[in-house]
Amino acid sequence: MIFDSHAHYDDRKFDKDRDELLTYMHENGVEFILNSGESVRASRAGVELGKKYDFVYSASGIHPHYASNVTDKDLQIIEEIAVKNKKVVAIGEIGLDYHYDGYSAEDQKYVFEKQLMIAKKLDLPVIIHSRDASQECFDIIKNSGVRKGVIHCYSGSAQMAVDYAKMGFYIGVGGVVTYNNARKLVEVVEALPIERIVVETDCPYLAPQQVRGERNNSMYIEYVAQKIAEIKGISYEKVCEITNFNARNLFDIRK
Ligand code: NI
Repeated sequence: MIFDSHAHYDDRKFDKDRDELLTYMHENGVEFILNSGESVRASRAGVELGKKYDFVYSASGIHPHYASNVTDKDLQIIEEIAVKNKKVVAIGEIGLDYHYDGYSAEDQKYVFEKQLMIAKKLDLPVIIHSRDASQECFDIIKNSGVRKGVIHCYSGSAQMAVDYAKMGFYIGVGGVVTYNNARKLVEVVEALPIERIVVETDCPYLAPQQVRGERNNSMYIEYVAQKIAEIKGISYEKVCEITNFNARNLFDIRK
């Protein structure tokens, strides 16, 4: 019943066993996977995964880290990928990331806003990557008029999460919620109605505490859902059921 709303199965770290792993996971409780884009290459790879596996959907988009090398032609390709493929159900991941030095904020904003406009034009939800840029990211999204999507690997305040939810967005919760120092994200989960939460891996990265350091995969969402169940005082099954419903609603998957 698990819906992994954010994964990167095109990553090289899955080259050796991608097919076996995807098949195994789908036979063992992973019902759907959204493979997030981050570049033209990754967006195309997501399309191929979607063609091969009926339970894999994908997003087309360029990650803020690549913003300075993006051409208008690249942005056009991102749009074309979304237009031409029915299983491309979102634009992402897009956003702002000010965590590391050496990336131009101006370029990031330009590429972010351009892709928000693509999403708006195509009426697709967005997958937002926001790191150390909470308020700016929120303001840009608000001004863009885009009102559907998910704030992936959410790291902002509980208040801002509630504000996002009011604007129509879902909040993506992953392995970080299981970490021993996850107080802030626990507060976010407490503050939000479960109807606004989706679960994710961001695999191969961000494995939960119990398997920290390992290559992450969608089966490990079990630890995330268990933690959310504990915080919310509801059953593990209920968390899987509701977050699965939320993600299908977010990406407009009717099955
Ligand atoms: Ni990601």
